[in-house]
Amino acid sequence: MHFPEYRARRMRRTENLRRLVRETRLSPDHFIYPLFVAPGQKVRREVASMPGVFQLSVDEAVREGAEVRELGIPGVILFGIPERKDAQGSEGLKDSGVVQKAVRALKEELPDLLVLTDVCLCEYTDHGHCGLVQGGDVKNDDTVELLCRMAVSHAKAGADIVAPSDMMDGRVGAIREALDEGGHENVAILSYAVKYASAFYGPFRDAAHSTPKFGDRRGYQMDPANGDEALREALMDVDEGADMIMVKPALAYLDIVRRVKDELNMPVAAYNVSGEYAMLKAAAQNGWLDHDRAMIEMLTSIRRAGADLILTYFAKDAARLLRRGA
Ligand code: PBG
Repeated sequence: MHFPEYRARRMRRTENLRRLVRETRLSPDHFIYPLFVAPGQKVRREVASMPGVFQLSVDEAVREGAEVRELGIPGVILFGIPERKDAQGSEGLKDSGVVQKAVRALKEELPDLLVLTDVCLCEYTDHGHCGLVQGGDVKNDDTVELLCRMAVSHAKAGADIVAPSDMMDGRVGAIREALDEGGHENVAILSYAVKYASAFYGPFRDAAHSTPKFGDRRGYQMDPANGDEALREALMDVDEGADMIMVKPALAYLDIVRRVKDELNMPVAAYNVSGEYAMLKAAAQNGWLDHDRAMIEMLTSIRRAGADLILTYFAKDAARLLRRGA
């Protein structure tokens, strides 16, 4: 391509020209909105490090779900903040747990809103790790058993998709088998297959009170320096029966989103995590960045990198803006 036959600026001259040749579309169709469900009634507590994000009781979560549906967003993913935490995370496995209650209420009130659930012990354990701890180590195989019970309990409550985020080995296959045995063969698995040990989860851990009391998660989450390993993780989970593969976080890992998408021919999700949300909110509050433009640019980039769906705390803000024609 040579100048002056080719003038790159020719097709950038007006918004209508730009619209004609725009390669990536952003639409609420691709968003999943995270909800933090807490015990009680009429509870709506804003998370300090995540302006606009709240811990919600079940009744309030249903109200939020209605708003999400009204904005054309297909689904929500639920995280639980239990009444009590213990070493085994037992509150997370109970059919009477806060997430299970929220799933039932959402499915009853808003049957066509997709309900995803995060399957992990860290929200329910008193030590804050994602599994059973023995001698300072998170035990893989024993943890997988508990994750299977949690996934089945979420499916029984009516979850459409379960999303294991613990990073234990072999859990996708085990969960698939447990779901099928329980008659939940139509419940899909969105695997957090490629989940990095990231500093960008900080605000989430405030929201879910799930910061590890000792050590960190580097013994089970991935090293941010690795890319080939992401493909191994993703391939393994596809072989075990994952319906969709997630890369998390999103913005510092767009190369990984692209590699996974190119390699797998599977639906790929990216989690635009709490720290990515908090950074923009903080900068915007200081007047340092244009919130709406930066938000749309971030979400468009995640789509351009190859993500089919985006889990994002911006879902409602972005859907409102897109509705107005952003
Ligand atoms: C649970 C889980 C975490 C996130 C999603 N599921 C926290 C963690 O691994 O520490 C983070 C989401 C976010 O930061 O928005 N394991």
